Amino acid sequence: MCGIVGCILKEDDDVAPILFDCISKLEYRGYDSIGLATFDGGKIHIKKDKGKIEEVDKSLNLTDMPGNFGIAHVRWATHGDPSKLNSHPHVDEENTVAVVHNGIIENYLEIKEELIGEGHRFKSETDTEVIPHLIQKFMDEGNDLEHAVRKTIGVIEGAYAIAAISVNEPDKIVATRKDSPLIIGLGENGYYLASDSPAILKYAKDIIYPEKGEIAILDKTGVVVHDEFDNAVNKEIETINWTPEMAEKEGYEHFMIKEINEQATAVRNTLTQRENIQNIIDEVGDLQRICFVACGTSYHASLTGKYLIESLAGIPTDVILASEFKYSANTLNDKTLVVFISQSGETADSLKALDVANKTSKTLGIVNVAGSAITRRADYVIQTQAGPEIGVAATKTYVAQLTSIYLFAALLASDEELLNDLDNVPDFIDEVLLQNDLIEELSKRYNYARDFFYLGRGYSYPTALEGALKLKEISYIHGEGYAAGELKHGPLALIDEGIPVVVIIPPGDNYRKTMSNLEEVKSRGANVLAIGAEGDESLESKANAIISINPDVKEIIAPLVYIVPLQLIAYYITLEKGHDPDKPKNLAKCVTVE
Ligand code: G6P
Repeated sequence: MCGIVGCILKEDDDVAPILFDCISKLEYRGYDSIGLATFDGGKIHIKKDKGKIEEVDKSLNLTDMPGNFGIAHVRWATHGDPSKLNSHPHVDEENTVAVVHNGIIENYLEIKEELIGEGHRFKSETDTEVIPHLIQKFMDEGNDLEHAVRKTIGVIEGAYAIAAISVNEPDKIVATRKDSPLIIGLGENGYYLASDSPAILKYAKDIIYPEKGEIAILDKTGVVVHDEFDNAVNKEIETINWTPEMAEKEGYEHFMIKEINEQATAVRNTLTQRENIQNIIDEVGDLQRICFVACGTSYHASLTGKYLIESLAGIPTDVILASEFKYSANTLNDKTLVVFISQSGETADSLKALDVANKTSKTLGIVNVAGSAITRRADYVIQTQAGPEIGVAATKTYVAQLTSIYLFAALLASDEELLNDLDNVPDFIDEVLLQNDLIEELSKRYNYARDFFYLGRGYSYPTALEGALKLKEISYIHGEGYAAGELKHGPLALIDEGIPVVVIIPPGDNYRKTMSNLEEVKSRGANVLAIGAEGDESLESKANAIISINPDVKEIIAPLVYIVPLQLIAYYITLEKGHDPDKPKNLAKCVTVE
């Protein structure tokens, strides 16, 4: 979805290099256009265009702009094609107000018509452009920038994080939000705003989180936040413990491969949440039902949670896609715990569902980004300790989510054996990573493939779904995850000579049945890649290729380990295809629209 930043420096240094540095860190939120606006010499300066950050910078030299304060934006188009005109910052007709916006203004067409009726002329097809026009109109009526923004948010409907500057009231940035993320950073050299913390980690670690409808005013002397009645709000300052290096590639070619390699650490760090999770379980008390709500990769982590909780703790557990929640949520009650899993903590579908669930049930967020909306709205929070994840395709946040769910289920069921087994997971993951070069080589064999199937049973079924999702989202190859036993009810018809079928087959109760399914596809000509236990001779004789996992990885903990080779396969196939795994087309890391 888009990313916004803003900065006002305490001294009269040029802000453009800093703005550019900050907005570059948000490229994972949108990469079809970039733009900056600064203020100097009584006017607003704007540079913007469609294209990737480095391309636009090359042609426009984005760091060369005058002024010590400004705003910037990366765009993931929703209203209007990626184009220079549709890029942010947007301005009013006279260039007196510049605005960056993340979100969607749902009633922009009505507003636009009305403004056109009043003589305003528009240049872009975006929903955002109504905002600078409204601000300018309210300023012309005698309001200061803050109150013009206040009036504007009284008119617009939808989701937004907005930052605005004006030539008529220079030396300040006014920002506000509703249903889109916005943080304010208090730095040594100035004051910052951003959609997400990686943008400003280098400059500010003390963070304020404005609530819906609050307005933040940043100037060189500090930041004040006003509520809707103009009262100053005493905001709590939280310090982020992520380091700037965590949001850098640190020598890796892509964030995705760096993050895949950080997974043992993500699991180890998330295991430290055990006491917090036990406290949550104690506080929640008696439960009749658990309902997971999530999207994308987080949905696959949730499915694993269903298998674990039902089989270990015997509590009926549902998993609902957040976007479908409103169509099935009327059976919740106060004995239901609704668990929202989200790496970003800002996914619009999940937030809408959370608001509904909060009315009837206890809610728990399992979230990676501290201070994100879900952490502030759920009754209880488990923070996964994966550190910042920049690659659009979730990897280390997925294993960190799984780790939290495993801890939750094992503690709920007082399953000491599982708790002990979890301690070995980081080493098992590192063992898989040692096979990196082998997996890279193996991936080259599939360059011809247009379709892939992924099969797994029981705990390995969500792994199959997640393996397929990783492949399709970054390589653009069609990948389909299936419950191995369901294959015969349809998709078997699609298995043909040479079609790659990845079979997830750890040792355990489901091994034999999965092996039968492997044979079914093999006898129809499939090119079988098995992910199974090292030393499994029968697998070696049947599969076309094998990635071997330590045989001590039991079926129950296999999801935490067997996903790693699937992520690597997706990554290397994507490189073979010549695509950028960090920035898959049409996708964004944080989806703040429904
Ligand atoms: C987007 C991301 C996925 C993520 C999904 C849910 O589609 O590209 O990686 O799994 O959103 O996001 P969440 O932040 O709620 O986990």
